[in-house]
Amino acid sequence: MSSGVYIHIPFCARKCAYCDFNSYDNLDSLMEPYTQRLISEIKSGLPKDYDTVFLGGGTPTALPLPLLLEIVDAVFKEGCEFSVEANPATIDFEGFAVLKAAGVNRISLGLQSAQDSELKILGRIHSYSDFLSTYKAARRAGFDNINVDLMFSIPNQTVRSWADTLYKVVSLKPEHISCYSLIIEDTTPFSRMELSLPSEDEDREMYMYCAEFLKKNGYNHYEISNFAKDGFECRHNLKYWERKEYRGFGAGAHSFYNGARYENSRDVSEYISDNKVTKTILTQKDAENEYIFLGLRKTDGICLSEYKSLFGHDFTEKYYSAIKKYADFCEIRGGRFYLNLNGISISNTIICDFLE
Ligand SMILES: C[S@@+](CC[C@H](N)C(=O)[O-])C[C@H]1O[C@@H](n2cnc3c(N)ncnc32)[C@H](O)[C@@H]1O
Ligand code: SF4
Repeated sequence: MSSGVYIHIPFCARKCAYCDFNSYDNLDSLMEPYTQRLISEIKSGLPKDYDTVFLGGGTPTALPLPLLLEIVDAVFKEGCEFSVEANPATIDFEGFAVLKAAGVNRISLGLQSAQDSELKILGRIHSYSDFLSTYKAARRAGFDNINVDLMFSIPNQTVRSWADTLYKVVSLKPEHISCYSLIIEDTTPFSRMELSLPSEDEDREMYMYCAEFLKKNGYNHYEISNFAKDGFECRHNLKYWERKEYRGFGAGAHSFYNGARYENSRDVSEYISDNKVTKTILTQKDAENEYIFLGLRKTDGICLSEYKSLFGHDFTEKYYSAIKKYADFCEIRGGRFYLNLNGISISNTIICDFLE
């Protein structure tokens, strides 16, 4: 089975007020040494067999194009799904054309909202019209596999403004749409601000609305937050949910192989000068818990025969009482156990009862 490759770029044009990812807007002087360190890590650690590459961040397109290209060239391999996260207003047609020629075949654009007032609250550097120019430039450059990231439960957002955002995005016909409920992370400016946030009921209404609207418009709901046209599911992200092996490169990047998880130094300067890799060996119980909570994120859930062959016992026997408790929220069909839409919408609560 082929691995995935993840490459982390920890630079952004400006830090968004809600974001706790390992990304910085004041480390531009480290872009060059970071790229060189990253390329040497890639050269020494690239697995023999891989079929997906995901260049994420941060904002990969915050790097000057020649540095970004060096990284793409270091990892390019024929036949891979090769995704690059690109932020609106940080790349133009020429940039996309160069990435396309270098072998990138999937672009993920972070729009978040089609309402300029909401983009402003989030601290984004772009307007909706900037996004439209970037999206069209990617199409003109020949990208036929584009994802758009959106968020709901944004401060001051209403079900109506969310519906309008979805309508506008669907009209553009991207192949893939991700919809995340905004999480107020502890360390971010949002956690210290008085925000007018949608209620839990509104959050659920927004989620249900988007699941139904996107389904009606031909998108398969294949993971809690991810929707794709037929055949455009993100093969790289599926590896995470299916516990397939992957190697991560760059500051704070994670890897999973040979039954262990690894994490690079999160600090960008430390990563450049002396990367320390932390290794965690997983017990059988860890592996089983991971298999369940990752698998149940997908709408086709987990394969019961694979579970039995991996862990040596029957899932439906072991979790008989939890399955009974959540009978209205789950299904067993075609040799698989999965949550239905109502179950997926409260998956955090349900999944706890399926873990040891
Ligand atoms: C790691 S970010 C990187 C993408 C890119 N830098 C951008 O901002 O478009 C990937 C996605 O995670 C989502 N995200 C980031 N912070 C979030 C939060 N606090 N709650 C929910 N989703 C979040 C956003 O939709 C974002 O596009
Ligand atoms: S959401 Fe994206 S652009 Fe904003 S700070 Fe986080 S990684 Fe950077």
